[in-house]
Amino acid sequence: MTTIAIDGPAAAGKGTLSRLIADAYGFHHLDTGLTYRAVAKALLDAGLPLDDEAVAVRSASEIDLSGLDRAVLSAHGIGEAASKIAVMPAVRRALVEAQRSFARKAPGTVLDGRDIGTVVCPDAKVKLYVTASPEVRARRRYDEMAAGGVQAEFATVLADIERRDARDMGRADSPLKPASDAHLIDTSTMGIEAAFQAARAIIDAALK
Ligand code: DC
Repeated sequence: MTTIAIDGPAAAGKGTLSRLIADAYGFHHLDTGLTYRAVAKALLDAGLPLDDEAVAVRSASEIDLSGLDRAVLSAHGIGEAASKIAVMPAVRRALVEAQRSFARKAPGTVLDGRDIGTVVCPDAKVKLYVTASPEVRARRRYDEMAAGGVQAEFATVLADIERRDARDMGRADSPLKPASDAHLIDTSTMGIEAAFQAARAIIDAALK
């Protein structure tokens, strides 16, 4: 079974890139961020604090990967809450188990997240670490919000990105970092098509 692991910080373009790669190779795709978001949403919906570990673990162990609704889960507040619940080791253990069983699907899978190459699928055939400067990522997020009619201050969007990076990179359990054998793709000065071509060259070489 071929697994492609794609990690990187928020708004680096790894979601779009992962979908393009999955389509190109005919592989199943899992955006693991949605699994953390689904657990965060369960707590928010129940009006519970985000550190209620018992409820979070129950929700994580009952997760149905086929029922993850990107449109519902993509809300900014849910992403922020997801980053907070993602520090709880028991929540991570339950979600990682579900993610690993997804990774075994034939003929192959693309998983994207923060710890795929380091923890979830350390034996992945190809590991990519997709990143861009905080300013570029904030600009993309800001433009996306503006296109969707959402008013925001650029400085606030940048501060959100930097806070999320600090939390995701600074947590004790499975912090965001490139695996030692990951290929780095910096999309700061690269459009999505160029990033896709770079990824294809790396994947084709590895699958040969
Ligand atoms: O990629 P995203 O914005 O949907 O992820 C939301 C949060 O979920 C992210 O800030 C940290 C957490 N997450 C994680 O800890 N591990 C993953 N593999 C994916 C996401």
